Amino acid sequence: MSSAPVLEIEGLSVTYRTAERTVRAVDRVDVTIGEGEIFGLAGESGCGKSTVANAIMRLLKPPAEIDGGRVVFRGRDVLAMSAEELRRFRWREVAMVFQSAMNSLNPVMTVGDQLADVFTTHERSSKRDALRRAGGLLEMVGIDRGRLRSYPHQLSGGMRQRVVIAMACALTPSLLILDEPTTALDVVVQQEIMAQIRGLQEELGFAVLFITHDMSLMIELSQRIGVMHGGRIVERAPAGEIFRDPLHPYTDALMNAFPPISGPRVPLTGLAEGVRFDHVPDLREVRPGRWVALDADSGPTHQTEEALR
Ligand SMILES: Nc1ncnc2c1ncn2[C@@H]1O[C@H](COP(=O)(O)OP(=O)(O)OP(=O)(O)O)[C@@H](O)[C@H]1O
Ligand SMILES: [Mg+2]
Repeated sequence: MSSAPVLEIEGLSVTYRTAERTVRAVDRVDVTIGEGEIFGLAGESGCGKSTVANAIMRLLKPPAEIDGGRVVFRGRDVLAMSAEELRRFRWREVAMVFQSAMNSLNPVMTVGDQLADVFTTHERSSKRDALRRAGGLLEMVGIDRGRLRSYPHQLSGGMRQRVVIAMACALTPSLLILDEPTTALDVVVQQEIMAQIRGLQEELGFAVLFITHDMSLMIELSQRIGVMHGGRIVERAPAGEIFRDPLHPYTDALMNAFPPISGPRVPLTGLAEGVRFDHVPDLREVRPGRWVALDADSGPTHQTEEALR
Protein backbone atom coordinates (compact mmCIF):
# COMPACT_ATOMS: atom_id res chain seq x y z
CA MET A 1 0.00 0.00 0.00
CA SER A 2 1.56 3.29 -1.05
CA SER A 3 -1.03 5.97 -0.16
CA ALA A 4 -2.34 7.00 3.28
CA PRO A 5 -4.75 4.47 4.72
CA VAL A 6 -8.46 5.05 4.36
CA LEU A 7 -9.24 2.02 6.52
CA GLU A 8 -7.19 0.21 9.13
CA ILE A 9 -8.40 -2.97 10.77
CA GLU A 10 -6.20 -4.22 13.57
CA GLY A 11 -6.60 -7.54 15.35
CA LEU A 12 -10.34 -7.70 14.68
CA SER A 13 -12.06 -10.66 16.28
CA VAL A 14 -15.76 -11.48 16.06
CA THR A 15 -17.52 -14.32 17.84
CA TYR A 16 -21.05 -15.63 17.34
CA ARG A 17 -22.19 -16.82 20.76
CA THR A 18 -25.30 -18.97 20.65
CA ALA A 19 -26.80 -21.15 23.34
CA GLU A 20 -25.32 -24.28 21.78
CA ARG A 21 -21.96 -23.17 20.43
CA THR A 22 -19.43 -20.39 20.25
CA VAL A 23 -18.00 -19.61 16.80
CA ARG A 24 -14.93 -17.42 16.39
CA ALA A 25 -15.83 -16.30 12.85
CA VAL A 26 -13.12 -13.62 12.55
CA ASP A 27 -9.87 -14.19 14.34
CA ARG A 28 -7.35 -11.37 14.80
CA VAL A 29 -7.70 -10.02 11.27
CA ASP A 30 -5.48 -7.13 10.15
CA VAL A 31 -6.28 -5.26 6.93
CA THR A 32 -5.12 -1.83 5.77
CA ILE A 33 -6.58 -0.25 2.63
CA GLY A 34 -5.03 2.86 1.06
CA GLU A 35 -7.01 5.76 -0.42
CA GLY A 36 -8.18 4.65 -3.85
CA GLU A 37 -6.74 1.16 -3.43
CA ILE A 38 -8.55 -2.04 -4.41
CA PHE A 39 -8.03 -4.67 -1.73
CA GLY A 40 -9.37 -8.18 -2.27
CA LEU A 41 -10.56 -10.45 0.51
CA ALA A 42 -10.72 -14.02 -0.74
CA GLY A 43 -11.70 -17.25 0.93
CA GLU A 44 -14.20 -20.08 0.82
CA SER A 45 -17.77 -20.03 2.04
CA GLY A 46 -18.06 -19.56 5.78
CA CYS A 47 -14.50 -18.31 6.36
CA GLY A 48 -15.71 -14.97 7.79
CA LYS A 49 -15.57 -12.51 4.85
CA SER A 50 -19.06 -11.03 5.26
CA THR A 51 -18.56 -10.85 9.02
CA VAL A 52 -15.50 -8.63 8.45
CA ALA A 53 -17.54 -6.40 6.10
CA ASN A 54 -20.44 -6.15 8.54
CA ALA A 55 -18.05 -5.31 11.36
CA ILE A 56 -16.62 -2.40 9.34
CA MET A 57 -20.15 -1.06 8.77
CA ARG A 58 -21.06 -1.69 12.44
CA LEU A 59 -23.95 -3.85 11.26
CA LEU A 60 -23.28 -6.89 13.44
CA LYS A 61 -26.11 -7.81 15.77
CA PRO A 62 -26.37 -10.46 18.50
CA PRO A 63 -25.36 -13.27 18.61
CA ALA A 64 -22.33 -11.56 17.01
CA GLU A 65 -19.91 -9.83 19.34
CA ILE A 66 -16.79 -7.91 18.46
CA ASP A 67 -14.42 -9.19 21.09
CA GLY A 68 -11.21 -7.54 20.09
CA GLY A 69 -9.44 -5.18 17.74
CA ARG A 70 -9.95 -1.82 16.08
CA VAL A 71 -11.58 -0.47 12.95
CA VAL A 72 -10.23 2.96 12.06
CA PHE A 73 -11.58 5.01 9.16
CA ARG A 74 -9.39 8.01 8.26
CA GLY A 75 -8.14 8.15 11.83
CA ARG A 76 -11.61 7.80 13.40
CA ASP A 77 -12.50 4.84 15.60
CA VAL A 78 -15.54 3.27 13.91
CA LEU A 79 -16.28 0.97 16.84
CA ALA A 80 -16.71 4.02 19.12
CA MET A 81 -18.98 6.05 16.80
CA SER A 82 -22.32 7.29 18.14
CA ALA A 83 -25.58 6.55 16.33
CA GLU A 84 -25.48 10.02 14.76
CA GLU A 85 -21.85 9.61 13.61
CA LEU A 86 -22.73 6.21 12.17
CA ARG A 87 -25.62 7.67 10.23
CA ARG A 88 -23.23 10.04 8.49
CA PHE A 89 -20.50 7.41 8.15
CA ARG A 90 -22.58 4.77 6.44
CA TRP A 91 -23.36 5.33 2.78
CA ARG A 92 -21.64 8.72 2.64
CA GLU A 93 -18.14 7.57 3.66
CA VAL A 94 -18.33 3.82 3.36
CA ALA A 95 -21.01 2.17 1.24
CA MET A 96 -21.62 -1.52 0.81
CA VAL A 97 -23.10 -3.69 -1.89
CA PHE A 98 -24.41 -6.57 0.19
CA GLN A 99 -24.13 -10.19 -0.76
CA SER A 100 -27.21 -11.06 -2.89
CA ALA A 101 -28.09 -7.34 -2.95
CA MET A 102 -29.72 -7.51 -6.36
CA ASN A 103 -32.46 -9.62 -4.79
CA SER A 104 -32.98 -7.18 -1.96
CA LEU A 105 -34.43 -4.32 -4.01
CA ASN A 106 -37.97 -3.56 -2.89
CA PRO A 107 -40.25 -5.41 -5.37
CA VAL A 108 -43.14 -2.96 -5.02
CA MET A 109 -41.17 0.25 -5.53
CA THR A 110 -39.84 1.54 -8.82
CA VAL A 111 -36.09 1.59 -9.29
CA GLY A 112 -36.28 5.39 -9.55
CA ASP A 113 -38.03 5.78 -6.19
CA GLN A 114 -35.49 3.48 -4.52
CA LEU A 115 -32.52 5.39 -5.93
CA ALA A 116 -34.15 8.75 -5.15
CA ASP A 117 -34.66 7.64 -1.53
CA VAL A 118 -30.89 7.82 -0.97
CA PHE A 119 -30.91 11.53 -1.83
CA THR A 120 -34.12 12.43 0.02
CA THR A 121 -32.99 10.55 3.14
CA HIS A 122 -29.33 11.54 3.31
CA GLU A 123 -29.31 14.93 1.61
CA ARG A 124 -32.86 16.16 2.11
CA SER A 125 -33.18 16.68 -1.64
CA SER A 126 -36.62 17.44 -3.04
CA LYS A 127 -38.28 14.44 -4.70
CA ARG A 128 -37.96 16.07 -8.10
CA ASP A 129 -34.26 16.79 -7.70
CA ALA A 130 -33.68 13.31 -6.23
CA LEU A 131 -35.32 11.66 -9.25
CA ARG A 132 -33.21 13.76 -11.62
CA ARG A 133 -30.05 12.64 -9.81
CA ALA A 134 -31.33 9.04 -9.75
CA GLY A 135 -31.54 9.21 -13.55
CA GLY A 136 -27.93 10.36 -13.64
CA LEU A 137 -26.92 7.39 -11.49
CA LEU A 138 -28.65 4.95 -13.83
CA GLU A 139 -26.87 6.45 -16.81
CA MET A 140 -23.57 6.24 -14.94
CA VAL A 141 -23.97 2.44 -14.87
CA GLY A 142 -25.11 2.22 -18.48
CA ILE A 143 -28.87 1.99 -17.98
CA ASP A 144 -31.28 4.29 -19.79
CA ARG A 145 -32.92 6.79 -17.42
CA GLY A 146 -36.31 5.73 -18.78
CA ARG A 147 -35.84 2.68 -16.56
CA LEU A 148 -36.48 4.85 -13.49
CA ARG A 149 -40.12 3.81 -13.84
CA SER A 150 -39.31 0.07 -13.97
CA TYR A 151 -39.89 -2.31 -11.07
CA PRO A 152 -37.03 -4.65 -10.13
CA HIS A 153 -38.69 -7.71 -11.70
CA GLN A 154 -38.69 -5.90 -15.07
CA LEU A 155 -34.88 -5.78 -15.05
CA SER A 156 -32.38 -8.58 -15.70
CA GLY A 157 -30.15 -9.80 -12.88
CA GLY A 158 -27.20 -7.89 -14.32
CA MET A 159 -29.24 -4.67 -14.49
CA ARG A 160 -30.45 -5.08 -10.92
CA GLN A 161 -26.87 -5.55 -9.80
CA ARG A 162 -25.89 -2.36 -11.65
CA VAL A 163 -28.69 -0.55 -9.85
CA VAL A 164 -27.43 -1.60 -6.40
CA ILE A 165 -23.87 -0.64 -7.37
CA ALA A 166 -25.12 2.76 -8.55
CA MET A 167 -27.03 3.15 -5.31
CA ALA A 168 -23.87 2.47 -3.30
CA CYS A 169 -21.98 5.09 -5.35
CA ALA A 170 -24.73 7.71 -4.97
CA LEU A 171 -23.05 9.78 -2.28
CA THR A 172 -19.51 9.25 -3.65
CA PRO A 173 -18.13 7.27 -0.69
CA SER A 174 -14.37 7.00 -0.11
CA LEU A 175 -14.63 3.24 0.40
CA LEU A 176 -16.92 0.82 -1.37
CA ILE A 177 -17.36 -2.67 0.06
CA LEU A 178 -18.45 -5.16 -2.59
CA ASP A 179 -19.50 -8.49 -1.06
CA GLU A 180 -19.60 -11.11 -3.83
CA PRO A 181 -20.98 -8.61 -6.36
CA THR A 182 -21.09 -11.01 -9.30
CA THR A 183 -21.57 -14.44 -7.77
CA ALA A 184 -25.15 -15.02 -8.92
CA LEU A 185 -24.50 -13.89 -12.51
CA ASP A 186 -23.37 -15.79 -15.59
CA VAL A 187 -19.78 -15.27 -16.75
CA VAL A 188 -20.58 -12.80 -19.54
CA VAL A 189 -22.64 -10.53 -17.29
CA GLN A 190 -20.02 -11.04 -14.59
CA GLN A 191 -17.37 -9.58 -16.88
CA GLU A 192 -19.62 -6.62 -17.76
CA ILE A 193 -20.18 -5.87 -14.08
CA MET A 194 -16.45 -6.15 -13.37
CA ALA A 195 -15.72 -3.68 -16.18
CA GLN A 196 -18.38 -1.38 -14.76
CA ILE A 197 -16.83 -1.49 -11.29
CA ARG A 198 -13.37 -0.79 -12.72
CA GLY A 199 -14.72 2.15 -14.74
CA LEU A 200 -16.54 3.66 -11.76
CA GLN A 201 -13.48 3.23 -9.56
CA GLU A 202 -11.30 5.04 -12.10
CA GLU A 203 -13.88 7.80 -12.48
CA LEU A 204 -14.78 8.31 -8.82
CA GLY A 205 -11.51 7.20 -7.21
CA PHE A 206 -12.96 5.36 -4.22
CA ALA A 207 -11.08 2.57 -2.44
CA VAL A 208 -12.62 -0.89 -2.69
CA LEU A 209 -12.84 -3.86 -0.37
CA PHE A 210 -13.68 -6.57 -2.88
CA ILE A 211 -14.94 -9.84 -1.40
CA THR A 212 -15.17 -13.02 -3.41
CA HIS A 213 -14.21 -16.68 -3.39
CA ASP A 214 -13.37 -16.47 -7.13
CA MET A 215 -9.60 -16.04 -7.34
CA SER A 216 -9.55 -15.20 -11.05
CA LEU A 217 -11.91 -12.24 -10.56
CA MET A 218 -10.02 -11.27 -7.46
CA ILE A 219 -6.66 -11.12 -9.22
CA GLU A 220 -8.18 -9.26 -12.16
CA LEU A 221 -9.50 -6.42 -10.02
CA SER A 222 -7.41 -6.20 -6.86
CA GLN A 223 -4.04 -4.63 -6.22
CA ARG A 224 -3.44 -6.50 -2.98
CA ILE A 225 -5.13 -9.61 -1.70
CA GLY A 226 -5.71 -11.17 1.69
CA VAL A 227 -6.71 -14.82 1.72
CA MET A 228 -8.95 -15.88 4.60
CA HIS A 229 -9.35 -19.36 5.93
CA GLY A 230 -11.24 -20.34 9.05
CA GLY A 231 -11.58 -16.76 10.28
CA ARG A 232 -7.94 -15.83 9.75
CA ILE A 233 -5.94 -14.14 7.05
CA VAL A 234 -3.47 -16.85 6.06
CA GLU A 235 -1.74 -15.07 3.18
CA ARG A 236 -1.44 -11.46 2.12
CA ALA A 237 0.41 -10.19 -0.95
CA PRO A 238 0.17 -8.05 -4.08
CA ALA A 239 -2.19 -9.68 -6.58
CA GLY A 240 0.56 -10.49 -9.10
CA GLU A 241 2.63 -12.31 -6.50
CA ILE A 242 -0.26 -14.44 -5.35
CA PHE A 243 -0.95 -15.30 -8.98
CA ARG A 244 2.64 -16.28 -9.74
CA ASP A 245 3.58 -17.87 -6.48
CA PRO A 246 0.86 -18.63 -3.95
CA LEU A 247 2.72 -19.61 -0.79
CA HIS A 248 0.08 -20.87 1.52
CA PRO A 249 -1.27 -24.33 0.64
CA TYR A 250 -4.81 -23.06 1.05
CA THR A 251 -4.20 -20.14 -1.37
CA ASP A 252 -2.67 -22.57 -3.84
CA ALA A 253 -5.74 -24.79 -3.58
CA LEU A 254 -8.07 -21.83 -4.03
CA MET A 255 -6.12 -20.73 -7.12
CA ASN A 256 -6.45 -24.21 -8.56
CA ALA A 257 -10.14 -24.44 -7.93
CA PHE A 258 -10.94 -22.70 -11.24
CA PRO A 259 -9.92 -24.41 -14.48
CA PRO A 260 -8.34 -22.14 -17.13
CA ILE A 261 -10.54 -21.42 -20.16
CA SER A 262 -7.64 -21.51 -22.66
CA GLY A 263 -4.35 -23.41 -22.89
CA PRO A 264 -3.62 -27.11 -22.50
CA ARG A 265 -5.80 -29.24 -20.32
CA VAL A 266 -4.25 -29.90 -16.94
CA PRO A 267 -5.65 -31.80 -14.01
CA LEU A 268 -6.89 -29.59 -11.19
CA THR A 269 -4.71 -30.11 -8.14
CA GLY A 270 -5.92 -29.95 -4.59
CA LEU A 271 -3.95 -29.54 -1.40
CA ALA A 272 -0.64 -31.28 -0.92
CA GLU A 273 -0.64 -34.60 0.85
CA GLY A 274 -0.80 -34.14 4.59
CA VAL A 275 -2.36 -30.67 4.48
CA ARG A 276 -5.96 -31.39 3.89
CA PHE A 277 -8.68 -28.81 3.63
CA ASP A 278 -11.00 -31.05 1.71
CA HIS A 279 -14.11 -29.53 3.17
CA VAL A 280 -15.10 -26.13 4.50
CA PRO A 281 -13.89 -26.12 8.09
CA ASP A 282 -16.58 -26.08 10.72
CA LEU A 283 -15.53 -23.13 12.85
CA ARG A 284 -17.32 -24.62 15.82
CA GLU A 285 -14.79 -27.41 15.88
CA VAL A 286 -11.40 -25.81 15.57
CA ARG A 287 -8.77 -28.41 16.29
CA PRO A 288 -5.23 -27.54 17.33
CA GLY A 289 -2.64 -27.97 14.62
CA ARG A 290 -5.22 -27.97 11.87
CA TRP A 291 -4.11 -24.85 10.07
CA VAL A 292 -0.86 -23.64 8.65
CA ALA A 293 -0.43 -19.92 8.97
CA LEU A 294 1.82 -17.71 6.96
CA ASP A 295 3.59 -14.58 7.95
CA ALA A 296 3.55 -12.56 4.72
CA ASP A 297 6.44 -10.34 5.73
CA SER A 298 8.96 -12.96 6.72
CA GLY A 299 8.10 -15.60 4.15
CA PRO A 300 6.49 -18.97 4.56
CA THR A 301 6.74 -19.60 8.26
CA HIS A 302 4.49 -22.52 8.93
CA GLN A 303 3.10 -22.62 12.41
CA THR A 304 0.61 -24.81 14.08
CA GLU A 305 -2.64 -23.50 15.41
CA GLU A 306 -1.31 -24.04 18.93
CA ALA A 307 1.75 -21.91 18.25
CA LEU A 308 -0.48 -19.06 17.12
CA ARG A 309 -2.63 -18.98 20.23
N1 LIG B 1 -25.92 -15.05 12.81
C1 LIG B 1 -25.03 -16.03 12.95
N2 LIG B 1 -25.08 -16.88 14.01
C2 LIG B 1 -24.18 -17.86 14.18
N3 LIG B 1 -23.14 -18.08 13.32
C3 LIG B 1 -23.04 -17.27 12.26
C4 LIG B 1 -23.96 -16.21 12.00
N4 LIG B 1 -23.60 -15.57 10.87
C5 LIG B 1 -22.48 -16.21 10.42
N5 LIG B 1 -22.16 -17.22 11.25
C6 LIG B 1 -21.01 -18.14 11.10
O1 LIG B 1 -19.83 -17.35 10.98
C7 LIG B 1 -18.94 -17.92 10.02
C8 LIG B 1 -18.57 -16.87 8.99
O2 LIG B 1 -19.72 -16.48 8.24
P1 LIG B 1 -19.65 -15.39 7.07
O3 LIG B 1 -21.03 -15.18 6.59
O4 LIG B 1 -18.88 -14.22 7.55
O5 LIG B 1 -18.79 -16.17 5.98
P2 LIG B 1 -18.46 -15.79 4.46
O6 LIG B 1 -16.99 -15.96 4.29
O7 LIG B 1 -19.04 -14.47 4.12
O8 LIG B 1 -19.20 -16.95 3.66
P3 LIG B 1 -19.93 -16.91 2.19
O9 LIG B 1 -18.82 -16.96 1.17
O10 LIG B 1 -20.77 -18.15 2.19
O11 LIG B 1 -20.73 -15.64 2.10
C9 LIG B 1 -19.64 -19.14 9.46
O12 LIG B 1 -19.13 -20.28 10.10
C10 LIG B 1 -21.09 -18.91 9.79
O13 LIG B 1 -21.76 -20.12 9.97
MG1 LIG C 1 -20.47 -13.86 2.79
